[in-house]
Amino acid sequence: MRRRVMLVSAGTAAAAALAACSASLEPGTNEGDVLHLALNQTESHPSYIALDRWGEFMEEETDGRWTIDVYPNETLGAQAEAMQLVSDGSVEMAIVSGPQLENLNRDFIALNLPTTFDDIDHQMRVVHDPAIVGELYSSLEETNNFTVLGGFTQGARSVYTTFGPVETPEDLSGMKLRVQESELNVAMAEGLGAAATPMAYGELYTGLQSGVVDAAENNEVSYATQRHYEVAPHWSYTNHLVGLDYLIINTAMLESMTQEDRAVFDEGWELARAEHVELWLQATEDAIAEAEAGGATFHEVDDSIFFDALEPLADRFLTTDLQWQVYDAARAASERPTR
Ligand code: GCU
Repeated sequence: MRRRVMLVSAGTAAAAALAACSASLEPGTNEGDVLHLALNQTESHPSYIALDRWGEFMEEETDGRWTIDVYPNETLGAQAEAMQLVSDGSVEMAIVSGPQLENLNRDFIALNLPTTFDDIDHQMRVVHDPAIVGELYSSLEETNNFTVLGGFTQGARSVYTTFGPVETPEDLSGMKLRVQESELNVAMAEGLGAAATPMAYGELYTGLQSGVVDAAENNEVSYATQRHYEVAPHWSYTNHLVGLDYLIINTAMLESMTQEDRAVFDEGWELARAEHVELWLQATEDAIAEAEAGGATFHEVDDSIFFDALEPLADRFLTTDLQWQVYDAARAASERPTR
């Protein structure tokens, strides 16, 4: 608890020090700024690497007029706080996970469900197709002052525990599973057989170590970069969700860019996304090797059991026409739409 309070106040102080001036930005006139970007991953994570190179690209292409400064490791706060700072305009950009956006607009649930995406290729096609996501990505501009620009994959998420392999939901019975902070994620934990404990990412190592939770779910890259394998060495390939990290940017800042600079910014973002996909595959292999060397065991299990357990969440959570429209369009873009 103490650590959390310190992180939040450190984040707030850092944000106040950054003190951007987005309130006075005139659309289409800004020829240079520093874009501070909040990230909750380490410097060795593919997201950091791809974003940092995007910053270099911006500097090169604009003769140093534009820069992106990436703040890793929750130094500007955990994702919920980072999102608030982007709304305020005190931080310009952040990477936030799907469940965070779901808390502001439930329509994002359509892209957060365990049955939405088959794999990374399918996901990347859908989440950068304006015909499917255009309305959703601008939906927070008036209420929260930020625009969603697409995102990076989180790959397939699986369950890992302090106590042993998970072959069926019964193996998680009575166990506390840390999930991201959203209603859908709580239901997902229950569908996986566990009791849900929503918690910020940066608190999880201590949570597993101290026994506040018995299990968590994530991709191999986070498992290794956060060193969770040290405290939860049993990984089971439940592959229950292909997750997504969104890039969000303060709308006034985005709209302030001159047309020419906006084109450079968009090009750099497209390059960053392509680079991220490539880095991801290698990082996943490296993460498995690192975790195994650190004592982790990776168990192959029948993931269709978990798929079947979570399939009913779509009918339960999709309640509006727009949500179904986005979900159906995402499924229609699959190579096996009816699976
Ligand atoms: C992944 C994802 C993060 C997210 C984290 C979590 O690592 O990339 O954005 O915060 O999962 O489980 O909280």
